Amino acid sequence: MKALLFQLLPVAYAFSASTFILPLGQNSPNYTFALSIPKNSTDIYFHLSGPTDYSWVAVGTGRNMENSLMVLLYAAANGKNVTVSPRLCSGHQEPVYSSALAVDILNGTGIYGNTMTLNARCSNCVHWGTGSLDLKSSSQSWIYALGPSGGTAAMLRSNSKTASIERHSRYAVLLGRFTMDMVRAISDSAGLPASFTTAAGSNMDGSITIDSNWPSIIHALCLCGTFVIMMPLGVTFLRIFPRSVRWHWINQTLSSTITFVGFIIGIYLSTMFTKSEKANSTHQIIGIMIGLALIIQLGMGSWHHWVFKRTNSPTIFGRIHRYFGHIVILLGIINGGIGLTWSYASRSVVIGYSIAVLIICLVYLVALWKAKWDTKHYKRSNVSAVNELNQPGLGYEL
Ligand code: HEM
Ligand code: HEM
Ligand SMILES: *[C@@H]1O[C@H](CO)[C@@H](O)[C@H](O)[C@H]1NC(C)=O
Ligand SMILES: *[C@@H]1O[C@H](CO)[C@@H](O)[C@H](O)[C@H]1NC(C)=O
Ligand SMILES: *[C@@H]1O[C@H](CO)[C@@H](O)[C@H](O)[C@H]1NC(C)=O
Ligand SMILES: *[C@@H]1O[C@H](CO)[C@@H](O)[C@H](O)[C@H]1NC(C)=O
Repeated sequence: MKALLFQLLPVAYAFSASTFILPLGQNSPNYTFALSIPKNSTDIYFHLSGPTDYSWVAVGTGRNMENSLMVLLYAAANGKNVTVSPRLCSGHQEPVYSSALAVDILNGTGIYGNTMTLNARCSNCVHWGTGSLDLKSSSQSWIYALGPSGGTAAMLRSNSKTASIERHSRYAVLLGRFTMDMVRAISDSAGLPASFTTAAGSNMDGSITIDSNWPSIIHALCLCGTFVIMMPLGVTFLRIFPRSVRWHWINQTLSSTITFVGFIIGIYLSTMFTKSEKANSTHQIIGIMIGLALIIQLGMGSWHHWVFKRTNSPTIFGRIHRYFGHIVILLGIINGGIGLTWSYASRSVVIGYSIAVLIICLVYLVALWKAKWDTKHYKRSNVSAVNELNQPGLGYEL
C-alpha cells in the first residue's frame, strides 16, 4: 500500500532520507552514512557510523580528495567517546581541520559496543566553495574512507580535532566513492533520518580501493636498509673481510645513492601530512643533517684516498672521515627509530627493527675490536710501511 502510494505520488520528499551502507562483513558493523535535509533549508542532518576496528571513519563531498569537505570520526582518548573533526582537503594529502565548518553534534553520538557513531547537523556545508553539494542532484558524489585497521598499534585515540591521520604503510585504508540521491533526502521536518539500517537512494561508484602507503615503505626500506645493513657492512668490508678500501668505497657510494633515493621520497612524503609540511620535526631535521653529513663524508673519504695514493701518508680528512663515519651511521639508525615512532609503526615492526639493529651492533663491535687489534699488532711487529688502514700486511687496492 505504501509502495503504491509512493508510485502514485512521486513527490521526492516523501522519502525524507538517503542512506549509503558499505557492508564490512557479517559480524561487523557496516559503514553507514545517512542524510536528511529539511525542505527549503541548507542544513544537513546526517548520521555517520562505522566499526571501531578502524582507526577512523570519514565521509567527504565530491569524487576526489581535492577540494573535498570531509567529516572524520575517531575514538576520543578515553576510548569511550568520539572526536569529530570537520576538515578540508586540498589534494592527495592529509585533510586539514577547519573550525569554520559548523558541525553541531546531536544526541546518539558516541561509541556503542564496537560501533562509533556521529549524529550531527551541518548548517554551512551545502554552500562551501568547491566542496559544495547540489541539493537538486539525484547522484551527488561522495567519498568514503576507513582508516587503518588491524591491531591496537595502528589505532588513533585522541581528543584533538587536529589529530594526525596516518596513511599507513602497513595497515591498509579502505576507500571509494558513492553517489546519493539528494532529492530523496529532502524532508518535511527538520531532524535526523528515522532509520539507517537499510540502504536507500544511494549507489556505489566503482569498487573499494585498498590503499597503502608505498612511498613510506620505500622510504623506510631505502634508509633503514642502508644505515642498518649496507653502511655497517661497508665498515666490515674495511676491517673484517675482505679488508679492502675498494670494496668500502664502492659499497658506501652505492649506499649513498640509495639513501639519496630515500631522501627524495622523504621530501615527497613530507608534503603529505600536516605534521611534516613545515619540515621542522626532529626526524626531518636529523634526516637533513645526515644527508649533508653523507656528502661531506663521501668527499673526505675520496679526498683522503686520493691524497694517500700519491703520498702514502695519512691525512687529517682520513682521520675525521673515520670517526665521523661512525657518528653518521649511528645517527641514521637512531633516526630510523624516530621515524617509526613518528608514523605510529606497529609494535612488531619496531621489534623487528630493534632486533636488526642489535645484530648489526654486534657485528660492528667485532669490526671495531678487530681494527684495534690489528693496529696493536702492527705497532708490535714494528713494520715501517704504512698502509691506508694503518694495518700490517694490507695494501690498499683500487
Ligand atoms: C658516505 C658514505 C661513507 C660512510 C658512511 C663511510 C664510513 C666510514 C667509517 C665508519 C669508517 C671507519 C672505519 C673504521 O675505522 O673501522 C670509514 C673509513 C674509511 N673510509 Fe669511508 N665511508 C663512506 C664513504 C667513503 C668513500 C667514498 C671512500 C673512498 C673513496 C671512503 C674511504 C674510507 C677509507 C680509506 C677509510 C679508512 C680510513 C681510516 O680508517 O683512517 N669512505 N668510512
Ligand atoms: C637517516 C635518514 C632517515 C631515515 C633512516 C628515515 C627513516 C624513516 C622511517 C623508518 C620512517 C617510518 C616509515 C613507516 O613507518 O612507514 C620514516 C617516516 C618518515 N620520514 Fe624518514 N627517514 C630519514 C630521513 C628523512 C628525511 C630527510 C625526511 C624529509 C625531510 C623524512 C621524512 C619522513 C616522513 C614525512 C615520514 C612519515 C611518513 C608517515 O608518517 O607515514 N625522512 N622515516
Ligand atoms: C553488515 O552487512 C552485512 C552484509 O550485508 C550483514 O550480514 C550484517 O548483518 C551487517 N551488520 C550489521 C551490524 O548490520
Ligand atoms: C519553500 O520553497 C518553495 C519552492 O521551493 C516556496 O514556494 C515556498 O514559499 C518555500 N517556503 C518557505 C517557508 O520558505
Ligand atoms: C562525547 O563527545 C561529544 C562530541 O565530541 C561531546 O559533545 C559529548 O559531550 C561527549 N560526551 C561525553 C560523555 O564526554
Ligand atoms: C538521546 O538518546 C537516548 C537514546 O538514544 C534517549 O534515551 C534520550 O532521551 C535522548 N535525549 C534527548 C535529549 O533526545
